Amino acid sequence: MSSHATHSAAGAAPQPVVLSDATRARFAREVAKYPADQKQSAVMACLSILQQEQGHVSAEGELAVAEYLGMAPMAVHEVTTFYNMYNQRPVGRFKINVCTNLPCTLRGGGKALERLCQRLGVEVGGTTADGLFTLQPGECMGACADAPVLLVNDRNMCSYMSDDKLDQLIDGLRQAEGQA
Ligand code: FES
Repeated sequence: MSSHATHSAAGAAPQPVVLSDATRARFAREVAKYPADQKQSAVMACLSILQQEQGHVSAEGELAVAEYLGMAPMAVHEVTTFYNMYNQRPVGRFKINVCTNLPCTLRGGGKALERLCQRLGVEVGGTTADGLFTLQPGECMGACADAPVLLVNDRNMCSYMSDDKLDQLIDGLRQAEGQA
C-alpha cells in the first residue's frame, strides 16, 4: 500500500488521506491523458488507483481525489456511489455481485443470491468471517438472456448460474486460495 488512511477522531470531519509520491505519480499519468482544463476527467481512473492500493475508497480517499483534481468532494462522492465497482467499505478477497435487476430476478437472480447467502453464511452485503467473500446485489450487467448472472471482482462474468454452478464457483475460488 502506498498511501495511508488518516483516521479522524469521533465526530470530527474526515481528513483527506495523504497521497504517497507513487500514488501522485500514478494520478499524474492519468491526468496527462486529458487537456489541462479537463483533469477532472481522470476521476474514475484516480478512484480505481486508490481502490487498487487500499482495497476500497474511503471518505478520506474521496477527499484526497477531490483535492488532487480540484473537484467538489460531493462530485467525487457521486461517482463513487454511482458505480458498483467502487467499494465504499473494505470487501473480501472475492466480491460477488449477483444481478438482481428485474429481468434477472424473473429468471432466478434472487434465488441465486439467496443460495449464495446460505452457502456462505452471510447476509446480502456481508463478508465471510475468513475475509474471502463479500456478497452483494448488482445492477444489470448487459447479459439478461444469460440469467442468473454474477460478476466476480467486477471483472469475471459468470452466466447461467444454476445451484450446481454456484457451488462449483465457490469451491473453485476457495481452492484457488488454498482454503478448500
Ligand atoms: S437484468 Fe441482469 S444482466 Fe440485465
